[in-house]
Amino acid sequence: MSVIYNEQNSTITLNTENTSYQMKIGPYGFLLHTYYGPKISGDASVSIVYRDHGFSPNPHDAGRCRDVSADTIPLEYPCEAAGDFRAPALSITADDGTFMADMRYHSHRILQGKYSLEGLPAVYGTDEEAQTLEVTLKDRFSDIFVTLQYGVFPELDVITRAARIENRTAQKIIVKNAASASLDILSGEWDLIHFSGRHAGERTFERVSLSQREELVGTRRGVSSHHQNSFVIIAERNADERYGQCYGMNLLYSGSFSCNAGADAFGSVRAVMGIQPEHFDYPLEPEEIFQAPEIALAYSENGLGSLSRIYHRLIADHVCRGPWKNRPRPVLINNWEATGPYFDGEMIISIAKKAAELGVDMMVLDDGWFGKRDDDYSGLGDWYVNTKKLGCTMGELADQIRSLGMKFGIWIEPEMVNEDSDLYREHPDWALQIPGRDPVLGRSQLVLDFSREEVVDRILDDICKVLDECKADYVKMDMNRPLVDVYSHGSSTQSRGKLQYKYVLGVYRFMEKLLERYPDLLLEGCSSGGGRFDAGMMYYTPQIWCSDNTDAIDRIRIQYGTSFGYPIRTMGAHVSACPNYDTWRSTPINTRAVVAMEGTFGYELDLNHLSDEEKEEVRQQIITFRKYSSLLHNGLYYRLTDVMKNTKEAAWMMVSEDQSEALLNIVVLDVTGNRPERYIRLDGLDRNASYRDTETGIIYPANVLMTTGITIPRVKMSGHDWVRGASLYEAFQIHLEKVDQK
Ligand code: DGJ
Repeated sequence: MSVIYNEQNSTITLNTENTSYQMKIGPYGFLLHTYYGPKISGDASVSIVYRDHGFSPNPHDAGRCRDVSADTIPLEYPCEAAGDFRAPALSITADDGTFMADMRYHSHRILQGKYSLEGLPAVYGTDEEAQTLEVTLKDRFSDIFVTLQYGVFPELDVITRAARIENRTAQKIIVKNAASASLDILSGEWDLIHFSGRHAGERTFERVSLSQREELVGTRRGVSSHHQNSFVIIAERNADERYGQCYGMNLLYSGSFSCNAGADAFGSVRAVMGIQPEHFDYPLEPEEIFQAPEIALAYSENGLGSLSRIYHRLIADHVCRGPWKNRPRPVLINNWEATGPYFDGEMIISIAKKAAELGVDMMVLDDGWFGKRDDDYSGLGDWYVNTKKLGCTMGELADQIRSLGMKFGIWIEPEMVNEDSDLYREHPDWALQIPGRDPVLGRSQLVLDFSREEVVDRILDDICKVLDECKADYVKMDMNRPLVDVYSHGSSTQSRGKLQYKYVLGVYRFMEKLLERYPDLLLEGCSSGGGRFDAGMMYYTPQIWCSDNTDAIDRIRIQYGTSFGYPIRTMGAHVSACPNYDTWRSTPINTRAVVAMEGTFGYELDLNHLSDEEKEEVRQQIITFRKYSSLLHNGLYYRLTDVMKNTKEAAWMMVSEDQSEALLNIVVLDVTGNRPERYIRLDGLDRNASYRDTETGIIYPANVLMTTGITIPRVKMSGHDWVRGASLYEAFQIHLEKVDQK
């Protein structure tokens, strides 16, 4: 049993293999959060000190007792109306603005298996893999109910949380805030690690100390955004890759979100995460329910690396679905950086021919194949094939590509419409825009109202006609602007929060229906690169284009940040042309490939433009990728350098689960004359074994590799007796195989 209710001390404990999470029905029915950490038995509420903390108010039902205040006790789902002035998880008002919802314990039940959430992504598992706990809270004075949902995955060391708000009163209420989870940590010094950035610079690792000040990360953009990622870590101040306590919070939602974290006046830390409460104001009519999205929590006392590996496994095996979750992904070539929308059928075939010759598995036709789409000012919404531009039908183009022995995929951007499109001329009211006002443009496009089913259905129908015609093996689903003018012409409410939420559910519905219709389809997510790189999307898209920035050196930092919360097999990564179109930096093609192998691996250039030598390298890269595909796809991932601090080299490795082999990757970021040796310390190997470098034959005791480290190779110059130091941006891949010898 992983969920244990102890009637004597009123505790409910959720146990995983290495952790315990505990709550307790406390004084006056407050649901206390008593503990989350290494496994325990017993009642952790012994750590809570009840005393009059001064200026922290007391519940009326406590009478003359001033020892209990919602403002100072650790709570599972803190709410404003109970007198808690720290960041709330729940905030509800009556229609006239008066506070409601002082939530106290009402009932609970334990179920075998994992709950699911209608219309929303959720971690899944079999009845043997998971248990569910539901704890229902009720407002002291009305029939507002909140059911806290918990999924316990013992083997994964993961606990999921979600919350369902039910209005069983006779009046409309306004949900101003309904977080997915709140976490109170009673003692210690903690940091917030978050992943911020911008278009072409996503998920940069940032770490701030938590003090008596609230840190707020999140987005108001209607998408999970380039600017802040919906994964955060609360880490002990001295925690690093290998040591220290840390908690992860990964939200499975693709819209606006926030995480508020900070210490209170007495040093207790709280982190509250969920849908962005600003402008949320979600009206809930009598009998209506609001379902907050799910959050996946994990705890590790062994540092950030081990926390990341918990999430890698969780997302790869219990969030991603469909046949592709476990299959090695095809090596694809995408024409976007080679041609933009300025192509014709012949150009696409010529790129595909060369790619097929060199061993690429799949040709992806990006933006520009539909409607009037010769630039990005028009055409979105018109999902019929521009046969004039292609010189043939989509079916014929796909046939030609398949005759080269390749698979075929196309790009779509279903949520968008250009004002210059037939769809917009036919249905201007299908775009989100406020009557009497000019809508804000983003890349000259408007957002379709995906909160309306008829809009989703029409776009899906149009796109399916094309997919049926070309029998696409793959679709890249893009989304290239944020939401601004949130007004629905088909809704009785104009609550921004409600419409944005329903919009996100509409996007999920689109993908669900698409995958129901084409169960074998490989769907790749994208939003101007990695603007919607979140665990919610991964329920539908097992890989997501990580960033429009394909410069190998920038990518190292982007992929480093991304790897904290997501497995590398979800990261769309391609080799592109040099100098890079954005940074104008040149890196060796080998380096670009090594970096792209830290992701799904593919190409984003016209291979015809490469030298013969480079073409041969590409052929070899694909062979190498195939050789290591299982290790890259299924291996345990270790970050070996902190690329935010170490500007000399970047290194990471993948180790097979049975520790029989490993692939070490190194990229040199800085060089100097007569360079001192640089050692990279490895991780994750079997300490009792030795490992052989399969290229040089050198045998290393694992403990030497993990303690002293391995030196960055020096390179033998052909035709000379001497070796040179590694050059700037040079990359190395070292394959290690376990040998019997110690
Ligand atoms: C943004 C994507 O990130 C690119 O890869 C490309 O698909 C363009 N959109 C096409 O418009």
